[in-house]
Parts: sequence; structure tokens; C-alpha cells
Amino acid sequence: MSDELSLTRGYNLLRMNADTEKRAATFTLGGRAYDLLEGVFSPTLCPSTEIYAQWLPYPAGGSFLEIGAGAGVISVTAALSGCARVTALDINETAVENTRRNVARHGVADRVQVLHSDMYSALDRQTRFDVVFWSSSFIEPPTDFAHETPLHHAIFDPGYVMHQEFLRSAADHLEPGGRLLLGYSNMGNRALLTEVAGNAGLRFEQLHAAPHPQLADVEYQLLEFHAADRPAS
Ligand SMILES: C[S@@+](CC[C@H](N)C(=O)[O-])C[C@H]1O[C@@H](n2cnc3c(N)ncnc32)[C@H](O)[C@@H]1O
Repeated sequence: MSDELSLTRGYNLLRMNADTEKRAATFTLGGRAYDLLEGVFSPTLCPSTEIYAQWLPYPAGGSFLEIGAGAGVISVTAALSGCARVTALDINETAVENTRRNVARHGVADRVQVLHSDMYSALDRQTRFDVVFWSSSFIEPPTDFAHETPLHHAIFDPGYVMHQEFLRSAADHLEPGGRLLLGYSNMGNRALLTEVAGNAGLRFEQLHAAPHPQLADVEYQLLEFHAADRPAS
């Protein structure tokens, strides 16, 4: 997809998310009801949350880290799918509050920790997980772009600085044999992602891909990262 069309799609999604009249205070996804606060990425305005939630491998009895939990659907799903320990992080303080509410609503506060964090910054260096996941802000805007609202962080990553940090520091937070997963799209800049992965000593493979149900040229993807020197499976 062209850079221009990706950017247009990104701004359309931002506009829909910012339109308070189009947002309900609650929504249902995967048969479960959730709260939605204003200023938080809505899991019902595009299908990515539901698609990634279905694809993700939730380690039974294991640990799961979600970077950018938003309203908390995927972290709640991880806990209800058998993960013993889930940590949900977000740079957006309202998203942190939103995830806390949904964790309480679904009775999983005993095993889900929710923290305000820029990428991994709120974690101790030695805290490790079996799965680390981010449904990323994959639209790459021009370099003069500024995050005017917290919602902008849900969609745009200028220069892929956040993708670089997600990949560069992942090794500090993965158990041996742990899996590093990214929810991505053909609206992202795959060449730049390949470059930042290479800078972090990683390469990626695509585990899943599915089209947007209404926009035939949009595809959602689940990517897994491996050490660049590990033989491909
Ligand atoms: C595409 S939204 C996905 C939200 C949620 N996981 C979902 O699937 O509905 C991306 C999320 O990443 C968060 N995010 C972006 N940059 C971040 C950073 N540097 N640290 C933590 N979270 C970040 C955004 O605030 C947003 O909630």
C-alpha cells in the first residue's frame, strides 16, 4: 500500500476514535463485555484487536506481556485463556485506567498487573515473560509529526522509534525460548521494520495474515521475531 494511502487510513482511524459520538461507553468482543474510556483506542472501530486476540498463542500456566494494552481486551483474554501471570502496559494513562477497569470487570486482577509505561520502562530489567506482544502503532507519519493527543500514540510511530525500542529491549524481558510477537499490517512500512529489526539483531517471519472484512486492500498480520543468526525453521 502507498505511504499516502496508509497515512490517510491512519488519520481516518484517528478521526473515528476521537469522535465521541461514535463511541459507546461499553462494547462486546468475543462474547465478553468491556468498558471503553474516551481517548483510548477502540477495539470495535477496526478488526485488529479481535483478529490478533484469536491468533495469539497464550501460554497455559505461563507469563504474557502486552505492550500497549489499550482497553485491555488482549490482556484480559490472555488471563482468561490460562496465563498464570499477565502484565499490561500502556503509555496512555487513560488506557491504563481502562485496562484496570476491564481486568476488574472480568475478575482477573489476581493475575494481571497493569502499569503506566513507555515501552518496557516500568519493568525491572530482570522481569521476563514467555510471550511479549505489541499490537503496534504501525503507521509511519512524516518526520515533522507530533503526537498531539495520547490517542495519536495508538496509530502513529514517527521514524519507527517505538518499534526500534520494542525490538531492541525485548531480549531483557524474554524467558529462554520466549516468543516475541508483533500485531502488524500492510499499512505499515515493512522495509523500515526490516531495517530496525536488523539493527536489533533480529529477523521476522509472518505467522498469520487476514484481510480486513470491508477494506479488501488492508491486511492484518502477526509477525514473530527471532535472532538473525538463528536458522529459519
Ligand atoms: C493499536 S493500539 C492497540 C491497543 C490494544 N492492544 C488493542 O488491541 O485494542 C496500540 C497501543 O499501543 C500503545 N502505545 C504506543 N506507544 C507506546 C509506548 N511507547 N509504550 C507503551 N504503549 C504504547 C498505545 O497507547 C495504544 O494503546
